[in-house]
Amino acid sequence: MRRVRLVIENLEPELSEWLYLEYSAASHYWGGATFTSVPPGMGEKLRTLGEVYTQSFRELFREEEVIILDPRAEKPLTQEDFRKARAVVVGGILGYEKPRGRTAEHITRELSDRARHLGKVQLSIDTAALVARLIYLGERLEDIEVTHEVEISLSENERVLLPYGYVVYEGKLMLTPGLVEYLAKGE
Ligand SMILES: C[S@@+](CC[C@H](N)C(=O)[O-])C[C@H]1O[C@@H](n2cnc3c(N)ncnc32)[C@H](O)[C@@H]1O
Repeated sequence: MRRVRLVIENLEPELSEWLYLEYSAASHYWGGATFTSVPPGMGEKLRTLGEVYTQSFRELFREEEVIILDPRAEKPLTQEDFRKARAVVVGGILGYEKPRGRTAEHITRELSDRARHLGKVQLSIDTAALVARLIYLGERLEDIEVTHEVEISLSENERVLLPYGYVVYEGKLMLTPGLVEYLAKGE
C-alpha cells in the first residue's frame, strides 16, 4: 500500500483546547498530519503536530489524489480507495449535536466522486481519522465498533453527553486523550 497522508482541512477560526486535543489525537493515529486552510495565528501551535499550510488541500493535491471523508458521501470508505490516493482529507470542524452538512458544503463541494462516508454516526475529527487509519490498514468499516454517543461522568452529580461516535477497539473506548480532563475543568 502506498503512503497516504492525513490532511486536516481546517474550517475553524480559532484553535480551542478541545480542537487541539482532537487534532493532536488525529495526527498521532497517522504518525503526523498536514493541516491546510490554517489562518496565520493558528500555525505556530499546529506546527508541533505536523505540516501547516495556509492554502486549501485543493491547491496542494490533484483531485484524483484525494479521498474526502464526508458523512453525506454516497459510498463507504474501503481499503481499495487508498490504492491511488495520496491524501485522506478530514474536516477540521467541531460538530454540533445535529450535523449540518458542513463537510459537504465547504469541503467536498463539486468533488462528490472523491467523497466517502464512515457510517451514519457523526464522528469526532480524531475518530474519523482513526477509522480511516484502521481501514487503510485492512479492517472493514462494518467490523469497526463505534458508539452512537458517549455519556461521561465528571463528578458525582455532573455528567456530559458527547453527541459523537467513538471507536471501541479491543474492548477499549477510544475517547480523545485529555478530553475528560479538559471537560472536568469546566472551561
Ligand atoms: C465532527 S465532524 C463535523 C462535520 C459535520 N458534522 C458535518 O455535518 O459535515 C468532523 C469531520 O469528521 C469527518 N467525519 C465525521 N463523521 C463522519 C462520517 N460518518 N463519515 C465520514 N466522515 C466523517 C468529516 O471529515 C468531518 O468533516
